[in-house]
Amino acid sequence: MIFNNISEAEKDPILGLTEEFKNDLNSKKVNLSVGVYKDDKGNTPTLPSVTEAEKEILNQNISKTYKPIDGDKEFTEKSIQLVAGEDLFSEINNTSFGLNTPGGTGALRLASDFLFQFSSKSKVWISNPSWPNHKPIFEASGFKVDIYPYFNNESNSIDFESLTSTIKKIPKGDVLVMHGCCHNPTGEDLKAEHWDEVSDIAKSNNLLVICDFAYQGLADGLDDDANGVRKMIRNLDNLIICTSYSKNFGLYSERVGCLIYNSKNESNCAPVLSHMKKTARSNYSNPPAHGSEIVKFILSNNSLRDRWKEDLNNMRDRIKNMRKLLVKELKNKGCSKDFSFIERQKGMFSYTGLSKDQVNALKKNNSIYIVNSGRINIAGLTTANVEYVANAINDVI
Ligand code: LMR
Repeated sequence: MIFNNISEAEKDPILGLTEEFKNDLNSKKVNLSVGVYKDDKGNTPTLPSVTEAEKEILNQNISKTYKPIDGDKEFTEKSIQLVAGEDLFSEINNTSFGLNTPGGTGALRLASDFLFQFSSKSKVWISNPSWPNHKPIFEASGFKVDIYPYFNNESNSIDFESLTSTIKKIPKGDVLVMHGCCHNPTGEDLKAEHWDEVSDIAKSNNLLVICDFAYQGLADGLDDDANGVRKMIRNLDNLIICTSYSKNFGLYSERVGCLIYNSKNESNCAPVLSHMKKTARSNYSNPPAHGSEIVKFILSNNSLRDRWKEDLNNMRDRIKNMRKLLVKELKNKGCSKDFSFIERQKGMFSYTGLSKDQVNALKKNNSIYIVNSGRINIAGLTTANVEYVANAINDVI
C-alpha cells in the first residue's frame, strides 16, 4: 500500500511552531510565531463588536442552509466597498465581483486554481521574502513559482530598484503577487509613488496582479492601508484581490475572506465568475457562513461598524506601543544592534534580522518561538513579557 512508503512531511514553518509551543512546559514561554493578535494579557480576544453581532445573529435564528457558491451578495458587496472605499466602489460596481472564500488562504488558492486552468504556462512571482505559504499554494495548483527582490537585509528597507528592474523583465501574462499592506514577513510597505510605478510596469507588461490584502487597518488605518490597492484598481485592466477577515475582525477560526475581481472590461465579469464558481464548487463547494454573517452584520450597521473600527484602532495602537517598548527595552539593555527599524515597520510583523541559529537558540534557551526567517509577531508581546524577550534577544546578539 502507498501508505507504507510515506515518510513524514515537514512541519509547517508557522503553524508547526505553535504545535511545538503548546507542548513546551516552560512557564515563561512566548509565542511570537503565528500572526495572531494578543491583548496585553496574552489572550486572543473575540472583539466586542463581534460578540455584539453574534448575539444579534443568534436572536435572528438565521437558517443554516447552504450559501451560494460565491457567498452572500451583501457580504461580497460590503467587502468590495471596504477595500475600494465609497467613491471608487460606486465607479467599479459593475466591473467587479466578489466571492466569499474560506479565509484569505482560500481566496489565494481559488485564484491560483482558476488561473492555472487558463494560464498554466505562466509563472507566479512572489516577493523575496514572502509569506511561507504563498509558494506552496501556487505550486499546489501546478504553477512554477519564482521570486522578485523586495528587501535589503543590510538597510532593513525595500530594495525598490532591484524590485522594479526584475519585474520589468517578467514575461507578459505571468502572475505578480503583491502584498497590499503590512508586508508579511518584513512589515515594510511600498510607498505611494512605488505603487504607481509597480502598477505602471504591471500594466504595460500585461502582468496579472494578485494583491494579497490580509491586514487592512493594521498598519495606519482602513483607508490609508488601501491606497496601494486602490491605485491598482484604478490603473490595471484586470486585478485579483484576496482579502481576509482573520486579523482585522479577529475571525481566525471562522475562515472568512473574499476574492475580489475587477476588470476594465465589464464583459469579462460574468464568464470569470462562472469559472471561479466552478472551481470553488469542486474544492470546498460553498463558503462557511458564520464568519461572513458577522462581517456583513457589522459592516451594514453604522453603530456596530464604528464599534468595530474602535476595536481595530485599539489593536493597531497596542501593536505600535509594543514596537516602541521592544525597541526601548533593547536599547536599555545596551544591545549592540540598532533595532530602531522595528518602530518603522507596519502591521503585526517585524523582520528582526535574527539568524536561524539565533532563532533556534531563543527557542532552546528561552522557549521564545520565532519563525525561522527571524520574523516576529509583535502582537504576541505584552508589557509582562517584553523585557524577558528583549533580554533573550540581547543575549543571542
Ligand atoms: C501568519 O503569517 O502567521 C498568518 O498569516 C497565519 C498563517 O496562516 O500563516
